[in-house]
Amino acid sequence: KQSPIIAPSILSANFARLGEEVDAVVAAGAGWIHFDVMDNHYVPNLTIGPLVCEALRKHGVTAPIDVHLMVKPVDRIVPDFAKAGASVISFHPEASEHVDRTIQLIKDSGCQAGLVFNPATPLSYLDYVLDKLDLVLIMSVNPGFGGQSFITSALDKLRRVREMIDASGRPIRLEVDGGVKPSNIGEIARAGADTFVAGSAVFNEPDYAAVIAAMQRAIAA
Ligand code: DX5
Ligand code: ZN
Repeated sequence: KQSPIIAPSILSANFARLGEEVDAVVAAGAGWIHFDVMDNHYVPNLTIGPLVCEALRKHGVTAPIDVHLMVKPVDRIVPDFAKAGASVISFHPEASEHVDRTIQLIKDSGCQAGLVFNPATPLSYLDYVLDKLDLVLIMSVNPGFGGQSFITSALDKLRRVREMIDASGRPIRLEVDGGVKPSNIGEIARAGADTFVAGSAVFNEPDYAAVIAAMQRAIAA
């Protein structure tokens, strides 16, 4: 298991001053910046694209940008995000016609590749592609919105993927996304996650450093 990373989701940030918000969470201890891309087609919401990723890089953000694509189709936006400075690009298998090809496309574009599992998506895709992935992302809410409640069946899924990753012997990150907060992050870490997306739990608090520190303490406990 790798060292824990807190990845605040900028979906819950103040978009009118996004650069400062990102600087603030990085100064407060965020390891990655989670970047939610929604298309009002694969998911019922519309957010941000490569232009905003590029703007954050130009603003001076050097932290890894963890792009979570909730778009269909997937492939044609991948090179644009790679050029815009994405570090990790993750996608949902239901949104890609050819999952193996999309993974290869992400890697060929110079980014790390992640596969995302909705609450009802079976893990069977991993039987064939785990060895090609850098990250597995387990959704603990249905994608589309911040501020939803953690779906507890994600804990069992995390335990199963943790076993698969450990058996693979490869340094694959296990990320969790949705409803993560200081009060449940300890249990989520014990289920096997090492990378924790948190949107509303971070950005709805006045003191970002305090909430990130509380999460790190709960993970270490
Ligand atoms: C949901 C997004 C999440 C969202 C999490 O579709 O993928 O990243 O921002 O928000 P919280 O942490 O508030 O559940
Ligand atoms: Zn996300």
